Amino acid sequence: MGTGGVTAVLGGGAMGRAILAGVVASAGAGAEVRVTTRSRAGAARVAPSPGVTVWDLEDEPDANRIAVRGAALVVVAVKPRAVGEVLGAVRDDLAPGAVVVSVAAGVSLAALARTLPASVAAVRAMPNTPIAIAHGVTGLAGGERVTDAQWSLVRTVFESVGMVVTLDESRLDALGTVSGSGPAYLYFVVEQLIRAARTLGFSPEEASRLVIATFVGAASLVARTGDAPEELRRQVTSPGGTTERAIAVLDDAHLDELFVRACAAALARTRELATEVDRRG
Ligand SMILES: NC(=O)c1ccc[n+]([C@@H]2O[C@H](COP(=O)([O-])OP(=O)(O)OC[C@H]3O[C@@H](n4cnc5c(N)ncnc54)[C@H](OP(=O)(O)O)[C@@H]3O)[C@@H](O)[C@H]2O)c1
Repeated sequence: MGTGGVTAVLGGGAMGRAILAGVVASAGAGAEVRVTTRSRAGAARVAPSPGVTVWDLEDEPDANRIAVRGAALVVVAVKPRAVGEVLGAVRDDLAPGAVVVSVAAGVSLAALARTLPASVAAVRAMPNTPIAIAHGVTGLAGGERVTDAQWSLVRTVFESVGMVVTLDESRLDALGTVSGSGPAYLYFVVEQLIRAARTLGFSPEEASRLVIATFVGAASLVARTGDAPEELRRQVTSPGGTTERAIAVLDDAHLDELFVRACAAALARTRELATEVDRRG
């Protein structure tokens, strides 16, 4: 079943475009999707698709207001500092009964509720970049006003681009430090293994191909078998063997503590940013 009706996506950047793919995939026949960007150049980056109209504020200063009229679902995918201004401008044009989904990090449900009319519900979403290829993870937290029908509408969009976790807002920042930032942690590990492969004499191209294929294979194996990562690691690590030596070196570097510290640092920064957004707010 499609989401149908009218959906507005305010902000057609990296995140907005990835969510747009989910909106288009989950929309039924005859559904209308409206996307807005600040600049003409930004609008040109949104791939044309049937049923999708794109406006930019350069050519149409009222683009956001026009886009939200009659929309049952409004996705706000602008930078956190722009959310207050964008929602303030469209406030009077939002349809009663609409649900606004903000992906902006650090903008709380309370802040959204302060800007939105009482007839409009708010949901916070914390997606990650693999939603662009429908393998994402999205955390969703909603206020009390969100009805079952609105939840279903929002979930349908994000489930069409990956896995959805619904949780209390108090845990959304923690989720962001794991699945939101997680792709960057993994790419960083990939980069380091590519560097190591180069020290062993592989060319940059060979090193990249070897390492990326290894990560894709290992990730697919854990996903498809459902076996615990510890078990799959044990299968590669014969007692007294080569991998065991390498794992011992990583263990000596306290990799376990490093990831705990990295997540804690990300969480602390999320809270600083939330305070900054709130102050500007
Ligand atoms: N990237 C991630 O991994 C990630 C994860 C979770 C959440 N988020 C959140 O997603 C949001 C967007 O991030 P992003 O990486 O997609 O940023 P981005 O690439 O800079 O995109 C921002 C988009 O908003 C548009 N825009 C700016 N002001 C606007 C306005 N007044 N009205 C309509 N559109 C406007 C921009 O237009 P122009 O292109 O013309 O400038 C651009 O299309 C942020 O709030 C971020 O916290 C990102």
